[in-house]
Amino acid sequence: METITGEKKDFGVLLKQGAEARVFESTFMGRRSIIKERFSKKYRHPLLDSKLTLKRLNAEARCMAKARKLGVLTPCLYAVDPLLNTLTFEYVDGPSVKDVLLQFGSDGIVEDRMRDIATQIGDKIGKMHDGGLIHGDLTTSNMIIRCETNDLVLIDFGLSFTSTLPEDKAVDLYVLERALLSMHSSCGNVMDQILSAYRKSSRQWCSTLNKLAQVRQRGRKRTMIG
Ligand SMILES: Nc1ncnc2c1ncn2[C@@H]1O[C@H](COP(=O)(O)OP(=O)(O)O)[C@@H](O)[C@H]1O
Ligand SMILES: [Mg+2]
Repeated sequence: METITGEKKDFGVLLKQGAEARVFESTFMGRRSIIKERFSKKYRHPLLDSKLTLKRLNAEARCMAKARKLGVLTPCLYAVDPLLNTLTFEYVDGPSVKDVLLQFGSDGIVEDRMRDIATQIGDKIGKMHDGGLIHGDLTTSNMIIRCETNDLVLIDFGLSFTSTLPEDKAVDLYVLERALLSMHSSCGNVMDQILSAYRKSSRQWCSTLNKLAQVRQRGRKRTMIG
């Protein structure tokens, strides 16, 4: 049971408490669902805060819809509640790519499965980028492999935005590369496999990957200074 501004809310089982949002497992019209609630930032002016919260809520819903139009699988959006600041999605049943890759590290999932996942990741990011959509938080926790079909479903468009700049696309890929290096170092060349699929899927791969090389260099310099 959550108490915010004196109002009682019971969204279901709390799955994750983040800095910007709380995520609950619930049911919507009899279907297993996820409720994502953006909450207010106490340090912001209340009026500004409610405007920003609503803006982000709408942006997340819009970016998810755009990804879907571009051929990327996302959870089905069931409802948007601008008063409670919630989005309600279809619950996607399956492990996160993070879980699958961690398992690869410990007891070895088959190479083929990893290649299939890497190919899907590269292909879908390429489609998204060509449509001018930047995910903004490409980590392996934000990718689910749907049990029934083994399809990759992208979630968490909370930091997504539209842009056609190679720099923004490169940073999107760089975030994923860093996440893979830090969390899944035992998975070998998974990023190479992702980029190889990206090259096939994105018509603008050349400018993006050139930028990625620059972004990597900047990252290295920063590490050396730090
Ligand atoms: N549609 C969904 N189906 C199944 N699990 C989900 C779904 N959406 C979110 N989750 C679970 O909740 C976690 C947090 O949701 P997410 O949208 O990534 O919020 P945050 O912005 O806090 O990371 C995810 O990592 C995932 O484990
Ligand atoms: Mg997330």
